[in-house]
Amino acid sequence: MRETNWPTRVTRSRDWANSECGAGALAGARCAMTKTFFIETWGCQMNDLDSQRLSGTLKLRGFERVDSETEADLILLNTCSIREKSEHKVFSRLGALREEKWRGAKIGVCGCVAQQEGERILERAPWVDFVMGPGNVGHLDEILEGQRKVVVDFPEDRRYDFITIDRPSLTKAQVTIMEGCNKNCTFCIVPTTRGREVSRPFDDVIAEVRSAADSGRVEIELLGQTVNAYRCPASGRDFGTLLRAVAEVPRVLRLRFMTSHPAEVNDSMIAAMRDHSNVSRYLHLPVQSGSSAVLRRMKRLYTREKYLETMLRIRAAIPEIHFSTDFIVGFPGESEEDFQQSLSLIEEVRYGSLFAFKYSPRPGTPALKIGAPVDDAVASERLTRLFELHERIKRERLESYRGRVLPVLYEGPSKHDATMLAGRTDDNYVVNFAGDASTPLGSMLGVRIDHAQHHTLRGEVVA
Ligand code: 5AD
Repeated sequence: MRETNWPTRVTRSRDWANSECGAGALAGARCAMTKTFFIETWGCQMNDLDSQRLSGTLKLRGFERVDSETEADLILLNTCSIREKSEHKVFSRLGALREEKWRGAKIGVCGCVAQQEGERILERAPWVDFVMGPGNVGHLDEILEGQRKVVVDFPEDRRYDFITIDRPSLTKAQVTIMEGCNKNCTFCIVPTTRGREVSRPFDDVIAEVRSAADSGRVEIELLGQTVNAYRCPASGRDFGTLLRAVAEVPRVLRLRFMTSHPAEVNDSMIAAMRDHSNVSRYLHLPVQSGSSAVLRRMKRLYTREKYLETMLRIRAAIPEIHFSTDFIVGFPGESEEDFQQSLSLIEEVRYGSLFAFKYSPRPGTPALKIGAPVDDAVASERLTRLFELHERIKRERLESYRGRVLPVLYEGPSKHDATMLAGRTDDNYVVNFAGDASTPLGSMLGVRIDHAQHHTLRGEVVA
């Protein structure tokens, strides 16, 4: 089990929309009973962070985290519904967990499937004790008290107790700056499951970043479904202004953010990135398709040309920038020509990493009524071709690092070889390297790259 640094005094941030700074003492102290919990997490970074928040709340209540559901008094499934497959997995997991219920464990379903299915989860799996949507992560305490079994509203008071977050990494902290999404991409379930955009107050974010950096988390990742649409509810300050302020927090060595919407990239954001060298030169900018016709049907609010122009603007200010992206293949009506345009975009941009998914119809989304579905075998074959192309580009990129000295943020021992250290490059590749194990975690090291393996790099510390 991992240890977390817990300050003795716990603060709780107030209502996101109204407070300027999260202070205020939390009533209640750590409880003496030792109950156990197990938490399983699917999906995006937001879900990871929600699990860290749930875990922190439970530990504060005196629960102890265990690695197996069979030992747990409370089992939480933090679910994802972005694609149908992940949703199905939840119901098969719930079937398997029925036995744990018989021995007296409590079962809670959290996350996006909880939000999407609500009561229906209890109908299909009546052994579930509660169903809790992502808007209620901060309200776990009351839910455990058992007054409500299905809690899928988006309360005004989101309650974000950053001090209690049970962070798994000693060098990196994820920090939510906004939740929800006001875009209406026709394929996407997120506006339903995560609600409308709500940004956290600027000063709350800065307080959290300071506290994380003080505890040695020198890498900060700002999170939001449309992270660059951030706007402080109290002062109106935008994402670029926030990025500058976070970059200036002492000891923040590396600053990332996820997920940017291409249509929300603006000069303020670009200038903040340009002016602060600790902001990662690796930007995740999901494109979804290289075809303007498909992008229009997806309601992505940009064309291929506009997307490329946005990249050029960023590159003009920050020549060393690299990109990663997401693609959907087999969106309704996607022709072979449309798909070819996705391939040519990959060739043109040479993304450092890329996530690609077969289109998955989601309940209640407008795409259900758009165009003819692409034959599943055709979509699968396109996905394979897309990955093959990107594998080649990625290989070339990893190979190009051979002999170069790259800044690597040291995270701990290598997972594969205990005699080696491990860290990440600015473009998020894992590097296993020879070096002095007494080096403080979170140091930024110069590592000369000797080998490019399939997905990782190997090297030696030189500075
Ligand atoms: N089908 C397939 N992929 C999807 N994504 C979002 N919705 C769907 C869907 N209905 C992908 C997008 C998004 C990533 C997080 O998941 O590429 O950027």
